[in-house]
Amino acid sequence: MYSLIKSLLFKLEPELAHNIAVSLIKSGALSLYKTDVNQKLAVNVCGIDFPSPVGLAAGFDKNAEIFNEIFKLGFGFVETGTVTPNPQYGNSKPRMFRLEDDLALINKLGFNNVGLDSFVANIAKNNINKGSQKIGANLGPNKDSTNRIDDYLDGIRRVSKIVDYITINISSPNTPNLRDFETSSLVNLLKEIQANRISGVPIFIKISPDIEDTDMSSIVESIIKYEMNGIIVSNTSKQRTFSLKSKKVEKDGGLSGKPILDLSNEKLSYIYNIAKKSIPIIGVGGVSSGADAYKKIKLGASLVQLYTSFVYEGPSLVAKINEDLLSLMRLDGVNRLSEVVGTAKLKFK
Ligand SMILES: Cc1cc2nc3c(=O)[nH]c(=O)nc-3n(C[C@H](O)[C@H](O)[C@H](O)COP(=O)(O)O)c2cc1C
Repeated sequence: MYSLIKSLLFKLEPELAHNIAVSLIKSGALSLYKTDVNQKLAVNVCGIDFPSPVGLAAGFDKNAEIFNEIFKLGFGFVETGTVTPNPQYGNSKPRMFRLEDDLALINKLGFNNVGLDSFVANIAKNNINKGSQKIGANLGPNKDSTNRIDDYLDGIRRVSKIVDYITINISSPNTPNLRDFETSSLVNLLKEIQANRISGVPIFIKISPDIEDTDMSSIVESIIKYEMNGIIVSNTSKQRTFSLKSKKVEKDGGLSGKPILDLSNEKLSYIYNIAKKSIPIIGVGGVSSGADAYKKIKLGASLVQLYTSFVYEGPSLVAKINEDLLSLMRLDGVNRLSEVVGTAKLKFK
């Protein structure tokens, strides 16, 4: 079924195809794929019960329009956003590219979104009968903002009481200088967030896979010092050092999908080993199978997310990943995924 829809969608320019997919999903097209999640996959992170450790990464449901429909597929959570205080058009088009031979995407969307007012209204409208799955809100600043820290604080104030967790996105490669928050501006940002928190809603910091090891250590230190609750590893990559088949490798923007799997796993493992068990990690980047998800969990992720493989593999992917996770748990003789978090190590040069 999806192969037919995919062959039609893949004839279209990727952003148009995405918008059509969102409309189809809104109209209930995913009901055909409705699936239950086995209770053995449940994980508790930051005091929140997630029915499955597999979530949809930020950027797919940017405006919080379709998370309820997406839950039908077996996702344990959906991270909505990135949302900015004011509506924003984003960068000029075309700004999304398929690298089909590499099972990858490049995007330079630049936080196109409806803004916080409409986002908050959408969450209220769609949050009815949500069930046990969880929602995250991924926050960013407007490109032309004169005070980006205030933009994040504004987002925190507006969504704290209506979502299960918040992500502070400091790693998009498509907003100029945003990644300064990963280095020189990090402490100022986290101090302000700590001082302005209005509820106990967990706050995760999402980082890029292009960070130097020393910067990762300072990020972990600051996350602990300023009482953030977790870290998401990782966003898309600006690097083009991967051996990619597609010519579109030259496009500017963030690379996602299969080629960034090893890179994001390296960062995840590095962070787990310095953070030990003090902060939970959401592992994201290149997951396209149960084995990929299980590997991230073994390297230290308590939850995983995916985006690009969903575009390539379609709606039945999540149920398959959930099933494969159960088989892998059975093979290892474990009853709970929490038993295997961080049990494997990557070797570093
Ligand atoms: C088209 C597209 C748009 C994205 N938009 C966002 C975004 O708004 N905010 C964000 O934090 N990450 C965004 N991401 C990054 C994903 O959330 C994820 O971190 C990244 O794609 C790596 O996962 P994947 O390899 O499974 O796609 C986007 C990714 C893609 C492909």
